[in-house]
Amino acid sequence: MAPFIRIQNISKKYGKLLAVDNVSFDLEKGELFSLLGPSGCGKTTLLRILAGFELTTEGYVEIDGQDMVDVDPADRPVNIMFQNYALFPHMSVSNNIGYGLKRASLPDNEIKSRVSELLELVHLNGMGERKPSTLSGGQRQRVALARALARRPKLLLLDEPLAALDKKLRSETQFELCKIQEQLGTTFVVVTHDQEEAMTLSTRIGVMNNGKLVQVGTPNEIYEQPQTTFVADFVGEISFIEVTVKEQKEPYWLMQGAVPIHVSTGAKFRINQKVNLALRPEKISLTSKPTGKINEFPVEITDWAFYGAGTQYRVVGPGGINLKLYESHNLPSKSNARQPETGFINFSPDSIIILER
Ligand SMILES: Nc1ncnc2c1ncn2[C@@H]1O[C@H](COP(=O)(O)OP(=O)(O)OP(=O)(O)O)[C@@H](O)[C@H]1O
Ligand SMILES: [Mg+2]
Repeated sequence: MAPFIRIQNISKKYGKLLAVDNVSFDLEKGELFSLLGPSGCGKTTLLRILAGFELTTEGYVEIDGQDMVDVDPADRPVNIMFQNYALFPHMSVSNNIGYGLKRASLPDNEIKSRVSELLELVHLNGMGERKPSTLSGGQRQRVALARALARRPKLLLLDEPLAALDKKLRSETQFELCKIQEQLGTTFVVVTHDQEEAMTLSTRIGVMNNGKLVQVGTPNEIYEQPQTTFVADFVGEISFIEVTVKEQKEPYWLMQGAVPIHVSTGAKFRINQKVNLALRPEKISLTSKPTGKINEFPVEITDWAFYGAGTQYRVVGPGGINLKLYESHNLPSKSNARQPETGFINFSPDSIIILER
């Protein structure tokens, strides 16, 4: 069966700049796909291409079996909520939401009933007559979302939809967005800078860098099995250790860098091959005394920061290896406890990510 949405070999050049570089991916119906990547990597350009506002230099987009090449933006079953969306300030909330329906010449009673459905969907019942300037940031955001959904697009593109919201409102709105998306079954592509947001929202994440889609996977795959140093580093906190492969010592591979490290992997290596080991902060345990576990080293604690739910430490191990680690507070943390200056760390051979160097 053909995928619901097929994006095939899309490239876009602006003069010499390759803003989007041979991007291909498919979307299932009802997916919430996030595009994640640094500023200028081509996310907005890709969305504009999907919406039809930008011609491609190469490639094509197919929605529900229909080639979109010659279809005008207004006739595509797609809507886009722009990075700097703006509501019409002189219009009421209801008229903002119904704007596209009016332009499409839907009968007034149809517009009225759809607008009231949408107000309910985004929890703004009773606010239809208000002007946008009298709403909170989160409420305005939901008006913009309702407006984008009004014409019942098959594909909704959202460019940094929650960027204007503070952290708390942002995470609440993320859950709202997920619920609305599930309720409607619309396929969403969401652009975000924020990796945590991509993790919580998405069925799958596409990571972009320099116009290329460098990895596509579920949030778990992207976090636990990044395929490149770029993805590992961009998504979440991580520390790297440069090593060379020393020998195979069943069931481990022994790697030698500043310290010898045991790694579990089904992968095959060449002796003396250079690789990068990567470790997520929460995979490293800090203890005050040695435990005798594998991959254990004495460390100096150089820095720490309290995060409420846990404490993040920076430590330096033998040979000057720098590591970040995260200890979650399972028990109440003591506010006036003196932080130790030295300790021991250990990490399981299973928790190490191996990357090419
Ligand atoms: N109309 C244009 N003409 C020339 N260059 C452009 C045009 N639009 C975008 N670019 C360039 O293409 C590249 C990708 O831009 P794009 O807006 O897609 O990035 P982005 O990933 O959305 O970044 P941000 O996260 O900052 O919004 C950038 O280098 C940008 O300067
Ligand atoms: Mg952008």
